[in-house]
Amino acid sequence: KGKNTEGKVDLVTGAAKGIGLATVKRLAPTAERVIMNVHHPVDPETWTALSTTYPNVRQLVGDVAEAAQAANLVQTIIEQYGHLDGLVNNAGITRDQLLTRMSTADFNAVLQTNLVGTFNVIKPALKVMQRQRAGAIVNVASVVGLHGNLGQANYAASKAGIIGLTKTVAKEGARRQIRCNAVAPGMINTAMTDQLNERVKAATLATIPFKRFGEADEVAQAIEFLLKQPYLTGQVLTVDGGMTI
Ligand code: NAI
Repeated sequence: KGKNTEGKVDLVTGAAKGIGLATVKRLAPTAERVIMNVHHPVDPETWTALSTTYPNVRQLVGDVAEAAQAANLVQTIIEQYGHLDGLVNNAGITRDQLLTRMSTADFNAVLQTNLVGTFNVIKPALKVMQRQRAGAIVNVASVVGLHGNLGQANYAASKAGIIGLTKTVAKEGARRQIRCNAVAPGMINTAMTDQLNERVKAATLATIPFKRFGEADEVAQAIEFLLKQPYLTGQVLTVDGGMTI
């Protein structure tokens, strides 16, 4: 155990950039280890900079949409560190299209990564946490999962599913002191929203009372809070600058 750590081992999925990476940076200063799951290895230059600033961060490559790879992530952590205390299911994708034009392949791909991917990691992690009689899970949902959104039937369904999953895991885990919560971000400045066209960005901005998009670290602060607050479970915390009030 390093100095000033809480002795915790945390796993953040899809953590190469955006909200996942911001969460890794938030958790690292007080954790024993933070494992960043990445779909593809981080480029060497970025990794050198990151691991110099945060020497207790490790990267583990794996596709959460594949059950065997997700299970392998958890198994590797247990073999190397002996426990898993915090899990942040952040990996997610979009394939936006109006429903009448949406292919079944695009519907399934988003469900597979966002919802099934979350299940794939939670299943082995929950077994470990039940044995430990301790652990906390935060799932990254979206305001779209609560309210729906044009062009995002697949994404909204996946995020609504994550909310139902979150509440169920909260109920199943509670007897063994395991907590499970979700964060529902609004519009956050990351690669995911960079790809939106300017017209959509401007229209969305007009609906946000704060008149700006959120930053990845602002979501990471909420994730850290949900991970650590000891009496919170089964909750969905919206972080959206007032967009859905
Ligand atoms: P991002 O595109 O920067 O990050 C997504 C990460 O997930 C990437 O690093 C990607 O490699 C990883 N990923 C995708 N498929 C994966 C797989 N099968 N296995 C492992 N990793 C995988 O986007 P952002 O915004 O940081 O997204 C993070 C989470 O936040 C997602 O779940 C997203 O749906 C959610 N979110 C984002 C919002 C936004 O406005 N940016 C709003 C609400 C929710």
